[in-house]
Amino acid sequence: MGDHGTLLSVTPVPTQPALRTSGLCKDFRGFRAVDTVDLEVAEGSIHALVGPNGAGKTTLFNLLSGFLGVSAGRIALFGRDITGLQPEQIAHLGVARSFQITSLFENLTPIEHVELALQGMTSEGYSFWRSHRSMHKFRPRAEELVEEVGLTSMAHRPAGLLAYGQKRALEMALVSALDPRVLLLDEPTAGMGMEDIDRTIELVRRIATGRTVVFVDHNMHVVGSLADRVTVLQAGTVLAEGTYDEVRNDERVVTAYLGEADHA
Ligand SMILES: Nc1ncnc2c1ncn2[C@@H]1O[C@H](COP(=O)(O)OP(=O)(O)OP(=O)(O)O)[C@@H](O)[C@H]1O
Ligand SMILES: [Mg+2]
Repeated sequence: MGDHGTLLSVTPVPTQPALRTSGLCKDFRGFRAVDTVDLEVAEGSIHALVGPNGAGKTTLFNLLSGFLGVSAGRIALFGRDITGLQPEQIAHLGVARSFQITSLFENLTPIEHVELALQGMTSEGYSFWRSHRSMHKFRPRAEELVEEVGLTSMAHRPAGLLAYGQKRALEMALVSALDPRVLLLDEPTAGMGMEDIDRTIELVRRIATGRTVVFVDHNMHVVGSLADRVTVLQAGTVLAEGTYDEVRNDERVVTAYLGEADHA
């Protein structure tokens, strides 16, 4: 953020962070997977969440998206308290997430996947009976989204035939079909080779335009390329937070995480 002091004095609109958690906790039968996390994600930023396996990153995503109920603490989305809301309600408020594991319908084509996602967005929601006839109105937008993620040549082939990197690209098309204000990406480059990784970095950057993105990744090249800010989790707590250069030079982070990330 630059110095907008003069501007702000004329238009005193308080800017709320896209996401803010305070004292957020998640217990699994006595085991505290997320421990008193205070996280602030600036609107329009790309924010990375890193940390060793089991640090609580996916659990935190599950709390932010309402897939898990919180054990303690609050979550605010653009200043609005969303603690305890159902996943559909949070999605409706503009938060979309991707999953660490791919979950696609093997027999549907990329175009059909995206059309379903687009139809699910409309006020009618998805209806099996209506879908066949009304679906084609989403075709042009679906084609755009499929092209954006580089899948045009596979657009009409069953998703089961896609290579791994292509499946992850399709998932990216599905989350951007939701046109979210806030995007949560859980390990978008997991299991990818260098070429797919670099393509995904470009893709995330493009999708992030005008949005807020929080992503988890073990690959420090990805984190360094994309993240405006980095939060390091360890054993459920925030170990460090700052720019990529700040956290990677933080001794506690080097000891706890970055050393072993090379092998991840
Ligand atoms: N539903 C659950 N029930 C019990 N324990 C869970 C559950 N989900 C996660 N945990 C535990 O909570 C801790 C945090 O898990 P989480 O999946 O959030 O880690 P992560 O940071 O995403 O790890 P990774 O980098 O391996 O994906 C782990 O010890 C995990 O075993
Ligand atoms: Mg995880």
